[in-house]
Amino acid sequence: MFGKIKSIRKNDNKIIVVYENIEATVEVISPSIINFFVPLYRKERASKAIEDLVVEECDFEVSEEDEGIIITTEKLQVKIFNDFKVDIYDKYGNILCEDYREERKAFIRRHGNLDILKLEGHKVVVDAIYKVMVLKKMEQNTFFYGLGEQTGHLNKKGYQYKLWNTDDPSPHVECHESLYKAIPFLITVKDKQDFGFFFDNTFETHFDMGKENADYYYFSAVDGNLDYYFIYGPEVKKVVGSYTKLTGTNPLPQLWTLGYHQSKFSYTPESRLLEIADNFRKRDIPCDVLYLDIDYMDGYRVFTWDKKKFPDPKGTLAGLKERGYKVVTIIDPGVKKDKGYKIYEEGIKNSYFVTDKDGVPYVNTVWPGTALYPDFTNERVRKWWADNQKIMMDYGVSGIWNDMNEPASFNGPLPEDVMFNNDGLEVQHKEVHNVYGHYMSKATYEGIKEHSGKRPFVITRACYAGTQKYSTVWTGDNQSLWDHLRMSLPMLMNLGLCGMTFCGADIGGFSFDCTAELLSRWVQVGTFTPLFRNHSRDFTRDQEPWAFDEKTEEINRKYIKLRYRLLPYIYDLFWQAERNGLPVIRPLLLNYQEDSNTYEMNDEFLCGDNILVAPVVEQGKKARMVYLPEGDSWVDYWTKEIYKGGQYIVKEADLDVCPIFIKAGSFIPNYPQMNYIGEVEIKELILDIYPPIEGNKASYEHYQDDGESFAYRNGMYNLYEFIIESKAGINITISKKHNGYNKKYESIKLCINNVKSSKVSVDGAKINFGKYENSIEFSVPIKNNNVIEIK
Ligand code: GLC
Repeated sequence: MFGKIKSIRKNDNKIIVVYENIEATVEVISPSIINFFVPLYRKERASKAIEDLVVEECDFEVSEEDEGIIITTEKLQVKIFNDFKVDIYDKYGNILCEDYREERKAFIRRHGNLDILKLEGHKVVVDAIYKVMVLKKMEQNTFFYGLGEQTGHLNKKGYQYKLWNTDDPSPHVECHESLYKAIPFLITVKDKQDFGFFFDNTFETHFDMGKENADYYYFSAVDGNLDYYFIYGPEVKKVVGSYTKLTGTNPLPQLWTLGYHQSKFSYTPESRLLEIADNFRKRDIPCDVLYLDIDYMDGYRVFTWDKKKFPDPKGTLAGLKERGYKVVTIIDPGVKKDKGYKIYEEGIKNSYFVTDKDGVPYVNTVWPGTALYPDFTNERVRKWWADNQKIMMDYGVSGIWNDMNEPASFNGPLPEDVMFNNDGLEVQHKEVHNVYGHYMSKATYEGIKEHSGKRPFVITRACYAGTQKYSTVWTGDNQSLWDHLRMSLPMLMNLGLCGMTFCGADIGGFSFDCTAELLSRWVQVGTFTPLFRNHSRDFTRDQEPWAFDEKTEEINRKYIKLRYRLLPYIYDLFWQAERNGLPVIRPLLLNYQEDSNTYEMNDEFLCGDNILVAPVVEQGKKARMVYLPEGDSWVDYWTKEIYKGGQYIVKEADLDVCPIFIKAGSFIPNYPQMNYIGEVEIKELILDIYPPIEGNKASYEHYQDDGESFAYRNGMYNLYEFIIESKAGINITISKKHNGYNKKYESIKLCINNVKSSKVSVDGAKINFGKYENSIEFSVPIKNNNVIEIK
């Protein structure tokens, strides 16, 4: 198609390959990241995901051989041939990925009614021709991960997905082709030589991981440029780190956003909202965030309040704030077509809405009835939308929930040729559909940042690669089904691998009626997922922690309280994530890629490096098999029993027990019990310590700041380092690596598990300590350095 190579040119890190029919560009972004670009649609690379591409100054060689061109970096050898066929090797000459050169040969569908298949949501045409396509030979032992929140299993081998943001109200099932998010990032794990592809194309894209034919896999798009990044590991951690270097990391959120969130479609009128608030405090169940879904608005007009349901929103929110609650309100994109309504009038006057091909504002139907869609691809519109956030901030709203931004439409999909401004370069809907939610989140984030001065809390349903810079995500309208609890685990783990650090699923399920047992098991999972939000739809039964019976309430209380104790650990993970892009909820393979038993582990996950969670996700089960990965030893959180890694064990788990294992050699910082962030000043940090196996050493960094402002970016934070060594007793040192935040802890309480000792000394002086069956406890005032010896 592109023809033979005629010549090459070099321009800084770019190698321009002149083919008979077109010029292709290969750019060495770093020794491990290579961009491949062919201007099939537009001359320039124009990414919506990558805002500041950093091209590393690095040495590489380009040589011309008979059959093609070889680019050699410190890590890779890239061979480029006629027709832009590309093969990539590691520096030792081992093949990593090779273009597939034979004809595609798809499986055949025999007999049957294709229309029924279509209705069931199957892709009927298996060998569709796409304008942009990269076909790779399937190597043996290949596993695939990523692609955002797709349904199904952790490993995507043998499946096919269409990336086209879709609001599909039918129950999510394993074979769904598309959901709300388009994240064209695929991770390939193969013999500890892992790499990823970020296919930066905003049109409808397709990823097939050997479903069409087990001999190859591909990614393709209906239009746009050929523009993808090959990202080499060889570790998955490195692939994820490099991808988030390109597309950005999740900024550190406010601390309260990591607490418990309670939502419902909808807590109205005001008295119902207050009843919910009262219940949490009365029942001694911690909670930080309450949500207002669409019914708080006046006729679903965004940025308004229904004054009958909420006569004094400012006063109501101020009252809630005093009791520690933060209120998050939903704002959908659809603006009601309504003469005299401020937002509509401003939008019309300034041409802020998307139009049909003749320039007439396009209308469809969403919650408010006939509605128009703000054109978030236009900077002027984003600025307007950002300024509108002030309306909500002035009412005392603490965060904004952006929904229906695929964009959803009740009256048929938006036609392909609805026109968008695209910052001055007019384009059709089909080009920017997948970034509509991304730009809405960006506008919302920027508005909240400007008008509150704090770290914005935005939660969005639709997104594209890179949205993590602006927003938290949730997995949309799941159901109160055990299947959906199970499926949420691989969905969240794959979202995490795609840089979407702050993610969660509706706890208890959105549609249908939850059961007491399902909620009990779901809250256990939620305790360890980054976003901890219980949400359900209108006309479903109540689903708050107390909505069933005393036992269910007790289980909810137990786990929500556990979450609040673990907050400093989770906050530490977010602080690291801003710097290294690694997720909070992790598939085991991310940390244990040497252990191939972890590659298909759908129902266990890691919360950071130190906590392994193996939840019970089946009704009626009172025990489950747990795989403990090889290379570490694991301590049962409840019984403190120690197990060697690399084995399956059976863990009994009554309804109130979620199997949790802590890696031997861990510090887990805890807060004292509280009902909400800010209720108590934390003067003493609690360190739950799991010593390493005899002869080993471990360390941990703990981060502390004001929990809400951006001052940490100017150095106003504290960083502590804890080191532990098990060697003829236990030695612990506590030191400060950074000293920038003035509200320091006064002391640290050390709770050391699985030790029996007779003597503890701090900085050489013997101290008294509490002795329990399997642990010891004592507090030490913080100095610049503490040296603790336990014999
Ligand atoms: C959508 C959202 C859901 C919300 C509802 C009403 O279905 O996904 O979370 O409650 O709209 O706003």
